[in-house]
Amino acid sequence: MEIIIHADATQVATRAADFITAQLGHKPDSVLGLATGSTPVATYADLVRRHQAGSLSFAQVTTFNLDEYVGLPPDHPQSYRSFMNKNLFDQVDIDLSRTHVPDGNAENPVEVGPAYEATIDAAGGIDLQVLGIGTNGHIAFNEPTSSLGSRTRIKTLTEQTFKDNSRSFEAGEFQPRLAITMGIQTILEARRILLLATGASKAQAVVDMVEGAITASCPASALQMHEKTTVIIDEAAASKLTLRPYYTWVLDQQDQIRDTFGNPW
Ligand code: F6R
Repeated sequence: MEIIIHADATQVATRAADFITAQLGHKPDSVLGLATGSTPVATYADLVRRHQAGSLSFAQVTTFNLDEYVGLPPDHPQSYRSFMNKNLFDQVDIDLSRTHVPDGNAENPVEVGPAYEATIDAAGGIDLQVLGIGTNGHIAFNEPTSSLGSRTRIKTLTEQTFKDNSRSFEAGEFQPRLAITMGIQTILEARRILLLATGASKAQAVVDMVEGAITASCPASALQMHEKTTVIIDEAAASKLTLRPYYTWVLDQQDQIRDTFGNPW
């Protein structure tokens, strides 16, 4: 894993937007895997600004979101489809018909996962998957003890995730306990992975992911098996890492390798 530590969440967002911009520069018709949640909001806002400034186009991009709540119609204000439309899709030149979010309102939600996987395959697979991380180490809604070989399916949210996400729902409002989520194996098949984390509440999950054992108890630790994962975090989320000087040293060396031998993208 490549570990990049910035002073604060604003710098994390800028670096993440740089990363996504570079991906689209390299391949304008990229297939992007996208995350919701509070972490990527500033990154999406930065991408929107770049689009409005005329330097970034999503015209040829296809997207697949990681997950959606079961039981919320797409136009529900708390659905992940609404989140994506509001924070990114409605503000850029993307073709909405090429944006995919699992259908949490399907008559038979059990059939959604295999169909979603088939659509990802038909699009040629995911070039760059953006991820956040839960305080319990989940990626997408793959909660601790999820199979490391899992594919898109229905998952029951843990009490911790239910509580973490309750901030988006009004008191007394229906809050789903089930979600349809890409599996860990689905995520590992992306060609590149970009994981973002900010804030002290993510510090334990981050150290478990980067320096802990590969275990279903911390689903994000499965990313250790991925060849091209970049983790961009702020100081607070990095506060429990023990090998920090090494991560900085690795980045310095990579810069030198790039300067000498070119960008291995
Ligand atoms: C969202 C998702 C989740 C979030 C994670 C962190 O699509 O899949 O795994 O990335 O729960 O959420 P925030 O960013 O709100 O802390």
